[in-house]
Amino acid sequence: MKPFKIIGMLSLVAVIALSCQRTPKVEMITISNHNGMSATFTNYGARITSLIVPASDGTFKDVVWGYDTVEEYYASSDLYCGPIVGRYGNRIGKGRFVLEGKEYFLTINDGENHLHGGSGGLSTKVWNMEKISDREVKMSILSPDGEEGYPGNVEITVYYTLNYDNSLDIKYEAVTDAPTIINLTSHAYFNLHGTSKYSTNSHILRINAAHFTPTDEGLIPTGEIASVGGTPLDFRVPTAIGERIDEVSFEPIAFAGGYDHNWVLDKEREFSLAAEVFEPSTGIVMQVWSDQPGLQFYSGNFMDGKDIGRGGDIHGYRTGIALETQNYPDAPNHPDFPSPVLRPGEVYKHLTRYSFSLNAF
Ligand code: BGC
Repeated sequence: MKPFKIIGMLSLVAVIALSCQRTPKVEMITISNHNGMSATFTNYGARITSLIVPASDGTFKDVVWGYDTVEEYYASSDLYCGPIVGRYGNRIGKGRFVLEGKEYFLTINDGENHLHGGSGGLSTKVWNMEKISDREVKMSILSPDGEEGYPGNVEITVYYTLNYDNSLDIKYEAVTDAPTIINLTSHAYFNLHGTSKYSTNSHILRINAAHFTPTDEGLIPTGEIASVGGTPLDFRVPTAIGERIDEVSFEPIAFAGGYDHNWVLDKEREFSLAAEVFEPSTGIVMQVWSDQPGLQFYSGNFMDGKDIGRGGDIHGYRTGIALETQNYPDAPNHPDFPSPVLRPGEVYKHLTRYSFSLNAF
């Protein structure tokens, strides 16, 4: 038999196998460590639903947004409350890119652009979930060729591990059978008050970045790498989030309605401290460590209070922040940005650590 016929038959078998895959049941799993810190996950979107950490008054606070029922996660899927987003987290201009001479068109779900892998992206899928030890959960999924417009059958695995030092590791791996692009990140919303009753504007933030990627009004990078010096985006010195968030005379703040930008991390791809946040009223400090080149800090500017979370907690304007470690937005259309391309035989790897303590910085 000719080689292309064999390949054709194998692809057909792969497609049949994919379409016969049974959707796993939606479940929740909790892991904990010996300090009383615990984390809960659901396989709907491989998402984190609860993260309970110690506060300075001896109590424990749930520092991520969540809901009481799985149905509420379905209903609010476009808020991206805690899932793994992809295949390309963040935006791709007009949902279009060229890879190895071929043009691809992705689902458009944010104005004229593609956001967080599209309306049927990984955050809307039911993943396989397995508790592999008392402190570790494994999520896996096969994203078929053509899903949301992306090329290649891509196998993705995410490990959530709760460490003894009160940190949560998120380890990502992916392989593909055809050249593709990938940028996976966690879209947890944090509020270190432990409730959305209070705004995250009081959090003190430090980001290890001297540069950011300016965008157009649709939040698509222009391609420029600009200095944060002298702008409201300079968080090299710890500053309250609310202090400069409304300085709309600075165009990037006006475009985003607050913070919703990609910071170019000083350490590029070395696993290092990307950012730290501190809430004075609870004493909780969260450090973000990552090997990714960028950090999208989103200050909850599009939240309007219509979304109700766990125990009736109102998800109001600027009551949750996302600190998304990732490649730069729209990197597939900017050859000067770090490459998001994944080829057969390569392994996409990403490690991010959210580490909690009471040691104010
Ligand atoms: C983006 C925001 C978007 C939010 C929810 C964030 O990652 O940067 O612009 O509104 O996700 O989709």
